Amino acid sequence: MNSIDIDSKEQESPHLMSSPLGRRSFVKGLGLAGVALLPAGGLVLSAGEALAGDRSRRITQGDVAILKFLAAAELLETDLWQQYLELAAGNKPFRDALEVLDEDMGEYIEGNTNDEISHAAFINGFLESVGEQPVNLDAFRTLPSSPAHGAVQRGRLTNLGKLTVDTSWYRRYRSAGNPDFGDHFAQAVRIVDRPAIPLHDGNSSMQIQAIANTAAFHFGTIEQGGSSLYASLAVRATNLDVLRILLSIGGTEVFHFAIWDDLAGNAPPLNTGDGLVFPNLNADPGTQTAKVMPRPCKFLNANLPHCSVIRPIKPGNAGAVAAASGLTRSGLFSGQSQQFFQTLNALAVAADSAHRR
Ligand SMILES: [Fe+2]
Ligand SMILES: [Fe+2]
Repeated sequence: MNSIDIDSKEQESPHLMSSPLGRRSFVKGLGLAGVALLPAGGLVLSAGEALAGDRSRRITQGDVAILKFLAAAELLETDLWQQYLELAAGNKPFRDALEVLDEDMGEYIEGNTNDEISHAAFINGFLESVGEQPVNLDAFRTLPSSPAHGAVQRGRLTNLGKLTVDTSWYRRYRSAGNPDFGDHFAQAVRIVDRPAIPLHDGNSSMQIQAIANTAAFHFGTIEQGGSSLYASLAVRATNLDVLRILLSIGGTEVFHFAIWDDLAGNAPPLNTGDGLVFPNLNADPGTQTAKVMPRPCKFLNANLPHCSVIRPIKPGNAGAVAAASGLTRSGLFSGQSQQFFQTLNALAVAADSAHRR
């Protein structure tokens, strides 16, 4: 990995942070000098206060690097969720197979997709509002859509056709161990090089259920990764509005994860006969489906009482480079260009190089 020495360059930019407004409202608000940017509230600054030069409210280059990586991550999340949504909505066999897990699956997928769209738009809008370039990955929309019925034909950033889904989170959150203390967890389901969306029409009922089950575990894999990512990067933020963004968006990643953790447990056991087995999770004490609340685990210091927390959060185990590497290893970017990987890696290294000031 190329390392970028951002420490020596990290400086406070002249841009002052203000309220957590959406992009359009914020830009409008900027035109109203001397007028409160939002109704009174704990997070709100009047324009006068925002210009008072409170150092704690300045955004650092590290904050910008964090937000840029997160904008990229949210665009990538949006891209994969949109593919799931198109097929859940427009491909009846896939939708029926998803609904075996929960009849509201389509609604949940739509909700998660809309949340990711809002995350990407907000972070980019915020970057623009402080004079920074928003992140745009459109040049990398080079991957094909699934030809299966329901998928819109357009260039994609992500590839859901051949995923190796890390399902160890299912055991991790049901264990008192924590990767930040060196603990390792076996896969709950071994999903190697498998499609998470239908790649053609005419799948057998067994095949389409295996695809839906794979998708269900992938949903949890993505969102637990987002939960660790935001928790890990939050401690690197300096500006309080940036911290608010990380804590508040990170909270919805956890919200998503909790839903998918629960629903993955409804994946019906099946054996495709060619190496993919969804077991009866309740037959193993480490994968009991009802144990969806994060089990208290080691945290910060093994001598302290166990605590129910997001894990991992330590650099190396979590953070931008860990997230980018994990997604890359999963095959999510199969077929992407070298330039894509270089861009993602540079954004990740810069974000992980940020330090709280
Ligand atoms: Fe998100
Ligand atoms: Fe997410």
